[in-house]
Amino acid sequence: MCGIVGYIGHRPAADVLLRGLQRLEYRGYDSAGIAVMNGTLAVHKKKGKVQDLAHLLENVQVDGSLGIGHTRWATHGFPSDVNAHPHANPSGDFALVHNGIIENYAALREKLVAEGRTFQSQTDTEVLVHLIDRLWDGGAISLEEAVRQALQLVVGTYGIAVVSAHDPDLLIAARKGSPLILGVGEGEYFIGSDAAPLVEYTRQVVFLNDGEMVVVRRSGYEVRTIDNVVLNKEVHELEWDLEQIEKGGYEHFMLKEIMEQPVSLENCMRGRVQPAENTLKLGGLIHEMDRLRAARRIVIAACGTSWHAGLVGEYLIESLARIPVEVEYASEFRYRNPILGEGDVVLVISQSGETADTLAAVREAKQRKVPVYGICNVVGSTIARETDAGVYLHAGPEIGVASTKAFTAQVTVLAMLALKLAEGRTISQAEMAHYLQALAAIPDKVRAVLETCDQPIRQIAQVYRYASNFLYLGRGYNFPVALEGALKLKEISYIHAEGYPAAEMKHGPIALIDQFMPVVFIAMKDSTYDKVVSNIEEVVARKGSVIAITDTDNGELDKLCEYVIRIPATEEFLSPLLTVVPLQLLSYHIAVMRGCNVDQPRNLAKSVTVE
Ligand code: M6R
Repeated sequence: MCGIVGYIGHRPAADVLLRGLQRLEYRGYDSAGIAVMNGTLAVHKKKGKVQDLAHLLENVQVDGSLGIGHTRWATHGFPSDVNAHPHANPSGDFALVHNGIIENYAALREKLVAEGRTFQSQTDTEVLVHLIDRLWDGGAISLEEAVRQALQLVVGTYGIAVVSAHDPDLLIAARKGSPLILGVGEGEYFIGSDAAPLVEYTRQVVFLNDGEMVVVRRSGYEVRTIDNVVLNKEVHELEWDLEQIEKGGYEHFMLKEIMEQPVSLENCMRGRVQPAENTLKLGGLIHEMDRLRAARRIVIAACGTSWHAGLVGEYLIESLARIPVEVEYASEFRYRNPILGEGDVVLVISQSGETADTLAAVREAKQRKVPVYGICNVVGSTIARETDAGVYLHAGPEIGVASTKAFTAQVTVLAMLALKLAEGRTISQAEMAHYLQALAAIPDKVRAVLETCDQPIRQIAQVYRYASNFLYLGRGYNFPVALEGALKLKEISYIHAEGYPAAEMKHGPIALIDQFMPVVFIAMKDSTYDKVVSNIEEVVARKGSVIAITDTDNGELDKLCEYVIRIPATEEFLSPLLTVVPLQLLSYHIAVMRGCNVDQPRNLAKSVTVE
């Protein structure tokens, strides 16, 4: 939520900032702005997309090699030019960008107003600007000291970057609860909410932790805690490269990421799934396996698509390894005083590794002295660092707001984990060998789904693109896939959609069925198939229009359904990895046909770093 970029070095800062904001735009896109230092601070900001800011800057000369930029996802104050960041102090001595929420802003604002200060915007951020201004007091103390002291007065979350009009060699950044990294170049430094704006210039990064502040000059940088303790931080090498964060010829990141799945799944399994040797390795959890196998209960916490992956994980771990699993919305977890005790372990799932609700669940569990493991995509992300151990997805950067390749990689990791937990306990060597073969075959099967289904799904999208509602139904392992299919459609096409366990339909949603209700059934020829066919009959009897995703050719579904999409067969427990792909494509094509902005759906942001 909100993207921050900062630059100090020898390049034209405005170019670096604008390119950086374009790469960060998936984090928020209701307004954007930059502040560049060149003797004075030139602040340019505009409601709308980064492209609107770029147009504004076309006719303006913005010189200078030091600056900050921001792309906003509004929390306090509607999207407008005035609420856009950066925010400068009243006399233009410094400017600040902020990601996060100042929770005590109302009380602070009241106090500052009583002191005679005037606010320009409705943002919580401006409170921080005034606090710094008051402490700085025209230069009574250094700007870095004023920032440090101001941060001690605010409650809430922040990732900030600050530049001064009086010092051409000073860039300040700090974080608490909102991600921030420092990119280290040759005589130049970059600040970013994530690696996207930096990888073009450097792969050397320093991850800032909560409560840390960095003061950057062209000659070097110093990291301190906001309590003023100097820290010696490690420099890490990024895994990402530029090509991975570009569209590579695709119209949208979402489509690119859907199409990448055969490769992202190969990468996810590389070095882990080895059918030839009948071995399965999960290096990140190798020392935790005994504890996990002995667990009384595994509690999975996640949000959105990652929560859906967690639900598949529940089915996988319970049926393969026979360990009880509970799946929690991370956003609810810590507010309901969860019962966690001896023998419980918590497993969190997050693509970004920065989701505030999921991070709060990690901290809640740690406070209760329960082991916490993570499944994350972004290497070095806060959740990856704060959990006791974990597994990376290795799916590559996911930029599209609608998560696709992260879901399949999450399910793959959960399938590997379930098998590892089951190994030598609830499944035999022979079964293991068979399952590893099946896992290793998945990327090619996903390839086949993409090749054969894309065209027919475009036709289906053409027919149903103006529907107002959709129902998605599946059973067993494919119930979470029904939820995921519905979420994808809602997010990017703004069509109302519900996912349900197929058999639950008769307990209520069946009342919705008429000739205007498209119903997507996942009807794989597995242990639930016959029951699902009965559910299809029930829908057809009420004139509902059925689209079925199946692996069977028996002709039965063709008689009942309007459209049948055929995908390869696999083991029942791996079927979500295939069945979700046509649903991703369906939502994508419908959204494109409705003229929706697929990569930047309204009101959403890729990484939800506020609670
Ligand atoms: O980065 P995370 O996996 O923690 O994100 C969780 C959700 O915010 C995310 O999955 C969201 O639901 C996606 N937009 C779904 O497409």
